[in-house]
Amino acid sequence: MSRWHTLTDMSPFAVAEHPSPTSPEVRADILAAPTFGQHFTDHMTVAQWDSDQGWHDQAIVPQGPLQLHPSTAALHYGQEIFEGLKAYRHDDGSVWMFRPEMNARRFQRSAERLAMPALPVEDFLTSLQLLVDLDRDWVPSPEGEQNLYLRPFMFGTEHLIGVRASHSYTYCVLATPAGAYYSQPLKLWVTPNYSRAAVGGTGAAKCGGNYAASLKAADEAGEHGCGQVLWLDGAEHRWVEECGTMNIMFVTSDGELLTPATNGNILEGVTRDSLLQLAPDHGLRPVERAIEFTEVQRRLLDGTITEVFACGTAAVVTPITGFRTPDGGADLTVADGQVGPLTAAIRQHLLDIQYGRAADQHGWLVKVSD
Ligand SMILES: Cc1ncc(COP(=O)(O)O)c(C=O)c1O
Repeated sequence: MSRWHTLTDMSPFAVAEHPSPTSPEVRADILAAPTFGQHFTDHMTVAQWDSDQGWHDQAIVPQGPLQLHPSTAALHYGQEIFEGLKAYRHDDGSVWMFRPEMNARRFQRSAERLAMPALPVEDFLTSLQLLVDLDRDWVPSPEGEQNLYLRPFMFGTEHLIGVRASHSYTYCVLATPAGAYYSQPLKLWVTPNYSRAAVGGTGAAKCGGNYAASLKAADEAGEHGCGQVLWLDGAEHRWVEECGTMNIMFVTSDGELLTPATNGNILEGVTRDSLLQLAPDHGLRPVERAIEFTEVQRRLLDGTITEVFACGTAAVVTPITGFRTPDGGADLTVADGQVGPLTAAIRQHLLDIQYGRAADQHGWLVKVSD
């Protein structure tokens, strides 16, 4: 029998605990070697919206399949958005989230772009807080950069084959224990054939369609021996934008931490914002501006770009050791092709904040449970 209760008087979320949760033994086996996105915790968050009632039926429920009519709007015209953030266990056993309000606000911006209703920031935060607290035994130990990855998402549910905004939506949050995502330094493929975003398009929104459209280019990168794509702008294939699931940053010999300015095409990464704020701690000046790929090529050759890395929630900070371009020219190697010292230091600094081992001077951590 499900046990229903509401956790706080203020919260609209009811909680129905799983009648037969995963056994501690099975959970321990999963947590001994967490992969990424393959095992899910015992519960999930759901909430419904429709044009008559607004948000309603907010609940934490046993994790399991959703029933969808084949005409469900999102299955046909792709009205779907999502977020990604993590919960971290600290050495004292407590569990924390990193800047979840940034994700809540980006979720609202994505919703706005896709003509979907905004989920109140408070409800987004509460939905995560309750889910992680209830499933806190699923948050892995901090060794090996393990964490609990949280996937809030929302999609149009109206039974409708027609091109217009759905009149009803489901919000859902899944949680999956995760190990390190990309542990290896990457080479980037500068694709000549595909674009991720166009002016006026959905580049700054975190919507599933952006990722579906990127998969062919990711295959192409693999065929060229590269781990990810470097996206240039859609109009001219001239300006650096970002990687497949990460923003990109350059360290220069005159002490800049340089990254493309957000321009409506780039996803406004929480990690990107955090590293720009941490840059002065590492003797670097944060600089956001448009960057031509030819500038990157020239400065890799003359040595005034000394380090390159990509950053994102899943990957944290991934060193970029080189670029492969389609013009038949030699591969561009970043410095000596090894992981740069500032890349390593910034990566460690961010992880130390997230795992509670360095001072959280910016107040980024939000406690979930003791
Ligand atoms: C396309 C893209 N760019 C950048 C990022 C990095 O964003 P964040 O640091 O918020 O994870 C992500 C990951 O969410 C992404 O998918």
